[in-house]
Amino acid sequence: MSKKTLLILPGDGIGPEVMTEVSRIIDWFNDRRGMEIEASEDLVGGAAYDVHGVPLADATMDRAQDVDAVLLGAVGGPKYDDLDFSVKPERGLLRLRKEMDLFANLRPAQCFDALADFSSLKPEVVAGLDIMIVRELTSGVYFGEPRGIFEEGNERVGINTQRYTESEIERVARAAFDLARKRNGKLCSMEKANVMESGILWREVVQAVHDADYPDIELSHMYADNGAMQLVRNPKQFDVIVTDNLFGDMLSDVAAMLTGSLGMLPSASLGAPMDNGRPKAMYEPVHGSAPDIAGQGKANPCACILSFAMALRYSFDEGAEADRLEAAVEKVLADGVRTPDLMQADGGKPATTTEMGDAVLAALDASL
Ligand code: IPM
Ligand code: MG
Repeated sequence: MSKKTLLILPGDGIGPEVMTEVSRIIDWFNDRRGMEIEASEDLVGGAAYDVHGVPLADATMDRAQDVDAVLLGAVGGPKYDDLDFSVKPERGLLRLRKEMDLFANLRPAQCFDALADFSSLKPEVVAGLDIMIVRELTSGVYFGEPRGIFEEGNERVGINTQRYTESEIERVARAAFDLARKRNGKLCSMEKANVMESGILWREVVQAVHDADYPDIELSHMYADNGAMQLVRNPKQFDVIVTDNLFGDMLSDVAAMLTGSLGMLPSASLGAPMDNGRPKAMYEPVHGSAPDIAGQGKANPCACILSFAMALRYSFDEGAEADRLEAAVEKVLADGVRTPDLMQADGGKPATTTEMGDAVLAALDASL
């Protein structure tokens, strides 16, 4: 088995404590499954700002470019709210995405059977839900120029630009069609072609890619606002959804909440293939840094653990071991282990972050 390099960036808030559990799980795979994952750690976000005065040091950026995969915890917190925009913790994350050119952000929203009752929607609407949002991650209004706050007459104007080239749309569409082919052969593309030219182009390019190379996939188009409504009304009508950076940011939060907890959801951000044939990649939980519960042992490490499972699958070619880890998490939930985010207020004594990690490790042991 060949050596695999992983750069761990715990970041801020609950990032470090959930990452501690993932590190134990990485050790387990090295010890018990003979994997040679060489993990190293560095700073991102506010943690990097505190030491370097920037949310991502150049040296860290270089290391991220060199490894097989990056695993990131979370960035941000109230301590950094008043920092200049250019050095806010989020800028570190956005720099990683942009400079690694991680254009395809895969955000699965899967409802674990044991948690169907926990969704804010009726259990029958969400039970068995398994959708995948593919969010364009390196362009659109997040990065378009011109941007800034400018003087105009006697007042200021804030400007951001929604901008997509055909090739940017095409490459994320291909990533989504490829995924759809591996899943249920169904793709829904979301934009607002009714009000935005970038949406008209988006729709045209996605349709053209379909007609040329993916005629076997059932493609539909939907306005993103209707998409948000449909996700809440009847989410199981979807399988793979592809959408732009900003709509994807919002729609993936909606989809996430359908499943019962943000604390369960992983993500993968993939770029172009590297020399070894695997895509450039960064993995991160969908949840944020949750500063209100940081350092109290209340955080659910599952989203970060499942993000590592995605790394096993997409970066390390260890699909069977990814299945093993996902099954271990599923078993722990079925056994009733619950961090506070997975319980009602009167649900009894919750598991701590470490206890959740212990339970996943025990389930992994039992899987051998
Ligand atoms: C996300 C987050 C980020 C985003 C923030 C932290 C910059 O909301 O990953 O969804 O807006 O992309
Ligand atoms: Mg978001």
